[in-house]
Amino acid sequence: MNILIIGGAGYIGSHVTREFLDNGHSCTVYDNLSSGLRENLFSQAEFIHGDIHDYCSLLEVMKNKKGFDAIIHLAASKAAGESMLNPQKYSRNNICGTINILNAACESGIKNIVFSSSAAVYGEPQYLPIDEKHPTVPENFYGFTKLEIERILSWYCKLKNIRYASLRYFNAAGYDVKGRIKGLEQNPANLIPIIMETACGIRKEMKIFGDDYDTQDGSCIRDYIHVNDLASGHVIALDYIIKNNKSIVVNLGSETGSSVKEVLDITRNETGKPIPCKIAERRPGDPAKLTASASLAFELLGWKAKHSDMKTIIKTSWNVYK
Ligand code: UFG
Repeated sequence: MNILIIGGAGYIGSHVTREFLDNGHSCTVYDNLSSGLRENLFSQAEFIHGDIHDYCSLLEVMKNKKGFDAIIHLAASKAAGESMLNPQKYSRNNICGTINILNAACESGIKNIVFSSSAAVYGEPQYLPIDEKHPTVPENFYGFTKLEIERILSWYCKLKNIRYASLRYFNAAGYDVKGRIKGLEQNPANLIPIIMETACGIRKEMKIFGDDYDTQDGSCIRDYIHVNDLASGHVIALDYIIKNNKSIVVNLGSETGSSVKEVLDITRNETGKPIPCKIAERRPGDPAKLTASASLAFELLGWKAKHSDMKTIIKTSWNVYK
């Protein structure tokens, strides 16, 4: 198939592009390189330097290119903390940007969309593991934008026959197990890249945000999902919505939880680095524990995490950072 991957030069987007190429698809990456990197591009995929706010450019690409069968939409701002300080940026990039993409898709007759959603749509967990029936009450503006987009998608599905897969990612982590992707995220806000930067000496020390949570070791537990597993989920989800002529909303998670201290210990073991850290205040809005139920993804798509054990996540990350 001919696939347009919007945001394909980013951390997750580059892994997704690699996976579509590996599965024999023809890929075009559309990215404004605001956080994506040229070094994340592949010679086998055409690259278009373009912005999702440029409706004319989107339309021209979608109408005049090879006749795309599907759009994979990963272009977004993604720092939950920042979204609470600068909601305008998140409204514009996430909501307005997606509306441009959807309207251009409608105007050019592209019917299939895979959308990067997030576990942030659920908010504070009311039960664990979190399945797709869990209430959606986002705690931050970022999660709100993802939920709004899911709602818009469901209307476009009803009114314009758009088929979509909304993939609710848990904590994306790790790097390509075959070592083909090496672009480092700039100014990361997530735990594992921060631990990696501390292991390399880019940072002097890192902070553990709270060690008085109601968990075994007092630090927060998250469901880390290897980015190659996330990537395979996109390919399988696209096949599914096309074959079944149906839209889906599914979690992509590993169904296991690791605490901040566990991640730190495994990284110290794998890297041999001391990784200085100190206990800091709790970060506002952090639930003690988040784990996914991925049984719907397994039931519908036969998808299961294969590379998401913490050792593989840390080894593949260290491969790039060291
Ligand atoms: N943490 C630290 N120190 C740091 C950074 C993080 O202790 O320097 C802790 C956090 O408090 C949290 C855990 O590490 O307990 C993971 O934090 P991240 O910032 O890496 O990830 P979040 O769980 O906050 O959020 C991530 C994505 C969201 C997504 C969510 C889904 O950033 O977009 O996973 O579970 F919605």
